[in-house]
Amino acid sequence: MNQHTHYIEEAWTRAPVTPPERQRALIERIRALLKRERAVLIAHYYVAAELQELAEQTGGCVADSLEMARFGRDSPARTLMVIGVRFMGETAKILSPDKRVLMPDLEATCSLDLSCPPDAFGAWRDAHPDRTAVVYANTCAAVKARADWVVTSSVGLDIVAYLRARGEKILWAPDQHLGRYIQQKTGADMLLWKGACIVHDEFKGIELGLLRAEHPRAKVLVHPESPASVAEQADVVGSTTQLIRAAQTLDAREIIVATDIGVLHKMRALAPDKHFIAAPTAGQSATCKSCAHCPWMAMNGLSNLAAALENGAPEIQIDAEIAARAHRSLKRMLDFAAARGKNVRASGDLARDQALFENTGAA
Ligand code: 13P
Ligand code: SF4
Repeated sequence: MNQHTHYIEEAWTRAPVTPPERQRALIERIRALLKRERAVLIAHYYVAAELQELAEQTGGCVADSLEMARFGRDSPARTLMVIGVRFMGETAKILSPDKRVLMPDLEATCSLDLSCPPDAFGAWRDAHPDRTAVVYANTCAAVKARADWVVTSSVGLDIVAYLRARGEKILWAPDQHLGRYIQQKTGADMLLWKGACIVHDEFKGIELGLLRAEHPRAKVLVHPESPASVAEQADVVGSTTQLIRAAQTLDAREIIVATDIGVLHKMRALAPDKHFIAAPTAGQSATCKSCAHCPWMAMNGLSNLAAALENGAPEIQIDAEIAARAHRSLKRMLDFAAARGKNVRASGDLARDQALFENTGAA
């Protein structure tokens, strides 16, 4: 049984369901509250389609985790409403300590964050003082505070390649699949924590091979949190934004997608002539508790979004000392991405988006 089963089941019980006849009124209410509170919506591609659309229509953004961080930091809004999972809200707060950061539900966690408690990570970090600690953004503020670098899937490969060129040995946490992928691509000396994403971990290499045999012309897009048996069959491995960009540009009418199905909303909008197929999680014999959809992302809905704006709660709070230390490792990542001129958001303008694809590719 998956070690996070209890949390996953709990998350699904908290996932709000809005009857269609209530949606319009709630959306109008949220629009008014955004004005009243001078707030902006910052959403991830995995949340419900109506939330993604509302964020874009109201001057906010829908993006991958790196661009969410950057958008929040640069926004003039007084209040940031982060529609995603908790580490994304924490990142926004660390980068903008003077802004109020709200979320629809603070219990929206992530299995990678759960797998990497600060004490255990701190002990591991202390045992390897000779290594550079690189942690994935999907961690809590206290883990980021003990890291030298934070990375997201859109810049992790570039940053580790850069560190390797400087002769640094890496301590990597918590996603073992992303860590192994980066290790293989860069040849870096990396010690890997054993965490995994409960959504991507369930994509199956054997079943993907069978699906590809049924669709021989299809191209395969894979998020690097997926197991090696899946990533090695990919035409493109990359962050959610990078996969969306690939969906637009790849010369294929059929595209198999190994990441949370929430991303299909944007892919279909930007490439309406293509047919998208969700990668298999083993059909009848699936072991996943949350097949191809993140239970914590699903905890965001119109009703708890409206309530959070109305009440000014729940609000992200982070100990000031931890936040200051975490800021250093996060800022390094953002400075690195800026120095490389790395665009991290698929604007739909193919020429402008070119930099998204440096260093992405097949496994
Ligand atoms: P991205 O940075 O690619 O958006 O990924 C975040 C995440 O949690 C994927 O599961
Ligand atoms: Fe975490 Fe996986 Fe959900 Fe992303 S999809 S937030 S990695 S549990």
